[in-house]
Amino acid sequence: MQVLVVGSGGREHALAWGLLRSPVVDGVVVAPGNPGIAGLGPCMDLDDAMASLDVFDLAVIGPEAPLVDGLADDLRARGVPVFGPSAAAARLEGSKAWMKEILASAEVPTARHGTFTAAEEPAALAYLETLPGLYVVKTDGLAAGKGVLVTESLAEARDGVREYLAGRAFGDAGRTVVIEEGLTGPELSLLVFCDGSTTGVPLAPAQDFKRIGDGDSGPNTGGMGAYSPVPVATAAVVDEIMDRAVQPTLATLARHDIDYRGVLYAGLMLTPQGPKVIEYNVRFGDPECEVIVPRFASDLAVHCAEAATGRLETPIEFRDDACVTVVLASEGYPVEPRTGDVIDGLDAATALDDVIVFHAGTATRGEDIVTAGGRVLAVTALGPDVAAARARAYEAADLISWPGVSRRTDIAAAPTG
Ligand code: AMP
Ligand code: GLY
Repeated sequence: MQVLVVGSGGREHALAWGLLRSPVVDGVVVAPGNPGIAGLGPCMDLDDAMASLDVFDLAVIGPEAPLVDGLADDLRARGVPVFGPSAAAARLEGSKAWMKEILASAEVPTARHGTFTAAEEPAALAYLETLPGLYVVKTDGLAAGKGVLVTESLAEARDGVREYLAGRAFGDAGRTVVIEEGLTGPELSLLVFCDGSTTGVPLAPAQDFKRIGDGDSGPNTGGMGAYSPVPVATAAVVDEIMDRAVQPTLATLARHDIDYRGVLYAGLMLTPQGPKVIEYNVRFGDPECEVIVPRFASDLAVHCAEAATGRLETPIEFRDDACVTVVLASEGYPVEPRTGDVIDGLDAATALDDVIVFHAGTATRGEDIVTAGGRVLAVTALGPDVAAARARAYEAADLISWPGVSRRTDIAAAPTG
């Protein structure tokens, strides 16, 4: 089987790595890929890959933007089985307002919310006053994981609403806002493989660290690290999330004639009242993917192909080993990351046992690998338990440096539960 993976980050590096472990995979091409992925196999422009589609037996689409833009529909229309939802289904991530409508009609537990356009600013500000105290303001459209303001300050929430609606904070993505009550409790990412039926098969749960700073301080990022398994996410918790959230959502999508194929990512908060959905994403989480893929005991490529062709039947199994990833970021991330710094120590880190260094934002310059984005590397390690995997991931991370490198020091330090 020849597989096309679309994307260029740590998630796609992990996907290519996982797919290449399959005995049924002859080759993986990543479009456009990155220097780390190029160490595994060929990378090419998406346009070039699209011009030679007949060589691919499966396409796996990593990021949300091409899914929202209809790449899965395009590839399917051209005869390629695709692991990734249609544009109609990807609206779950492309529009938070629509996602909230689907949650309401599926009766999925979620935060109380209101949706407002720029013309409704007075109503939006009035709605804030009705919330109990932790205010959450979100862009309706895509904002690379950064369009969410969570604050205890009503004044800050009001300023946020005005900035978003005026298009000053996130352009058009923010001209419609979703305002919701703040929830509290441990967060959980439950990713579910879907084959167009209304059941879905959950993967091993993971937990992401969204804030830039230790102790969950500072602004939200795309994710600064992750671990799996998550002690608090027992089999009973996973069953409850499948029964009360994921399956009703898939059934509601089916009533809209939407057949969901790919991975559905449920972002949840385990509140004192039970799990509540914060958001759906229509793709693997990044960096959750980097800790889930190395834990597959069964064949990732077989599962992706089965989901793409509408019949998930091979049991999905995970190793007992734990996995931890620590993201190394550029100075200035998430506001204004500096790029172009030479990265040292990659070979030494990669040489450690049970360590995989996934490239997220890197480029080559002559003989060097240099930083080329905010999140640069996802330094990942396996171990017999979370503590051992964590120690090994930080041991590897300590070997890597560039001017201004930053990372959290508390990833997986206190696994929830
Ligand atoms: P989202 O992009 O919707 O996943 O939001 C990003 C992050 O903002 C989440 O991972 C949470 O940490 C936080 N967040 C979002 N919605 C809420 C909420 N209703 N209550 C508390 N925190 C939230
Ligand atoms: N790690 C969060 C996300 O991928 O959306």
